[in-house]
Amino acid sequence: MKTTFGPQKILFPMPVSLVVTGNMEKANIVTIAWVSLLTSSPPTIGISVGTRGFSGKEILRNKNFSVNIAGVDIMKEADFCGITSGKNIDKFKEAGLTKLPSRHIQSPIIKECPLNFECRLTDHSVIGTTNHFVGESLEVHMDTDKVEDPLNYSTLMIEAFNPLIYIGGAREYRKIGEKVGDAYSIGKHLDKDAK
Ligand SMILES: Cc1cc2nc3c(=O)[nH]c(=O)nc-3n(C[C@H](O)[C@H](O)[C@H](O)COP(=O)(O)O)c2cc1C
Repeated sequence: MKTTFGPQKILFPMPVSLVVTGNMEKANIVTIAWVSLLTSSPPTIGISVGTRGFSGKEILRNKNFSVNIAGVDIMKEADFCGITSGKNIDKFKEAGLTKLPSRHIQSPIIKECPLNFECRLTDHSVIGTTNHFVGESLEVHMDTDKVEDPLNYSTLMIEAFNPLIYIGGAREYRKIGEKVGDAYSIGKHLDKDAK
C-alpha cells in the first residue's frame, strides 16, 4: 500500500552544500541542499537558489561560485548559513568558517568542508521563484586525510568524510550508515544473462 501527498511534498535525502560567491575580501555563504551533478563531460553541477535571497543576485553578478560539501562536524554552522542572509551579515565571520583561495575562480572555497568544487557559471534560468544555475566544475579539492591515497579519488574514506545529510520535508539532519553493497555490481545477482 502507498499513501499520496500531492506534488509538492519533496522528501529527498540530500547532502548539505555550502555555496560561496564573492572574493577573498568579501564573500557570502548560502546553505543549499538542492544540488545535483548534471554531466560528467564537461563536468557540470546544477544548484537551485531562491530568487528572493541575496546569493542568487550575487552569483549572477560574479558569474562564479564554489560548492562545498559539509560534514556533520559543521552542522550548526551549515544551519546558521541557511537561516540568515548575507545581505545583513558576514557569515564567514559569524560562523567562524575559513576562506581558502580557489585556483581558477574569484570565489573562495571553505577550509572546513572536506570536498570543494570551483564552478564557473555557464547557464541560468528561472523556474517560478528559483534560479537554476549551471556551473562548470574547473577544479575539485579534497582533504588529504579523507582519502587513503591522495592521488586516487576513489579511495575516499566515507567514514572520515562523514557528510551531513538533510532530510527534506522532515527538516532534520542525519548522517550516513554503513556500506551495504557494491554499486554497478550487486544488481548482477538479478541479471539472468550475466555470467
Ligand atoms: C538545510 C537547508 C537547506 C537549504 N536548501 C536550500 C536550497 O536548496 N535552495 C535555496 O534557495 N535555499 C535553501 N535553503 C535556504 C537558504 O539557505 C536561506 O534562504 C538563506 O538564508 C539565504 O541566504 P542569503 O540571503 O545569504 O542568500 C536551505 C536552508 C537550509 C537550512
